[in-house]
Amino acid sequence: MNEPVYYRCINESCNAEYLIGSRPTFTCECDDLLDVIIPKQKGSREYWIGLYNSRRNCARYPSRAWQFAPWVDPGITEPVTLGEGNVPIVEAPARLRQWVGGNLRLYVVLEGKNPTGSFKDRGMSPLVSRAKKHGAKFVVCTSTGDTSAALAAYAAAAGIRCFVILPYGKVTEEQVLQAKLLGATIIFLKGSFDDCMRVQLELVKHYGMFPGNSIMPFRIQGHQTLIFQVVQHFGWTFPDWFVAPVGNGSNCSSLGLGLRTMRECGFDATSRILGCQSEAANPLYLSWREAGGMKATREGWEKVYKPITVGETIATAARIGKPVSWKKVIREITISNGAMAMATEAQLREAVIVAALSGLFLCPQSGQALAGLKNAVAEGIVAPKSHVVVVSTADGLKFTKPFSGNLFEGATVHECDTDEVASLIMAA
Ligand SMILES: Cc1ncc(COP(=O)(O)O)c(C=O)c1O
Ligand SMILES: [Zn+2]
Repeated sequence: MNEPVYYRCINESCNAEYLIGSRPTFTCECDDLLDVIIPKQKGSREYWIGLYNSRRNCARYPSRAWQFAPWVDPGITEPVTLGEGNVPIVEAPARLRQWVGGNLRLYVVLEGKNPTGSFKDRGMSPLVSRAKKHGAKFVVCTSTGDTSAALAAYAAAAGIRCFVILPYGKVTEEQVLQAKLLGATIIFLKGSFDDCMRVQLELVKHYGMFPGNSIMPFRIQGHQTLIFQVVQHFGWTFPDWFVAPVGNGSNCSSLGLGLRTMRECGFDATSRILGCQSEAANPLYLSWREAGGMKATREGWEKVYKPITVGETIATAARIGKPVSWKKVIREITISNGAMAMATEAQLREAVIVAALSGLFLCPQSGQALAGLKNAVAEGIVAPKSHVVVVSTADGLKFTKPFSGNLFEGATVHECDTDEVASLIMAA
């Protein structure tokens, strides 16, 4: 094979391998998902630490994510990049930490500070880099809102046309506007995201269209960089837990892949993964419980897993009843000795408000993760004092409606009178 990387089917009884670029579709002939395989690379743990530390804060590597290129895609020399990965990792403020409980060493990765305001950019940069190398004239995705903005941005940067399929009325207005201004052509469909995904998968399979969704395995390659970056941030030590919301499952898939990649390169990557779903869209949580919870095996969980019809939730970006990456989620959670948790609507809403009152303006999906973590702490799944890193997947600014009401109508408007304003403040 000329390429240093290739695809392999995740189904261990198939394990078919494909040359990159040889398949217009991005799933196996057996219909299972594909992994990107990078043949074992030279270098000890110390070699990689030296290499990546030398790239940190180096002007030649303006994207934190692409600093880890050898573990992402060594086949790309000129990535389509917008500076993805340059996000803060912050210690949870006291109020939020107390709300979660367990006296944790709690940190939050603010993925909302990525170029289009969500974690999707980390994966979209390698995906569009591949689309460009492949010579794709256009790319298509379906989305709960953030994938569409990310694909639109990177396609625009690469000079490739972008089409996005959205479930009408089920994504926020901010998200639609963002994709539109970034030049994407919007196609609204009736139904839920799961209905749109069926159309998207058929467009890829029957029409050979290039997908922007996470079935395209280079998305997951890029998302892994969060793990590398966090571990580097903590002096190449591993937190006890990574916590992420689960919709389609790209976060959990890539967290697990990142840990496995580092293990193959000599690191003692022992972190566990906690996937958190809302009560309205919880097929992986329900099946994990049914398979025995903490005793669930990969095979046992796969056997009882079934998609669900989603209910209503303010965590619309993860409102998915038939996640395409369900098998990867099960693989990574079980390999990492991880767990699933669930958050009720009231809990995830409260998490967003507590985070905001602590100074962090997070999206409802981040609330889903924080509330799921709180429940996992209460259940004893996450031990007290654990070192925990929560992936806050998007900026709260993309999801203001559930909290805003009508801010101007009925508001009292005062004169520009300093004494009056002062007395208002003093009386409060
Ligand atoms: C903000 C946000 N959070 C969470 C998710 C869930 O992502 P996944 O389940 O693919 O990890 C999505 C997208 O689907 C999202 O846009
Ligand atoms: Zn296969």
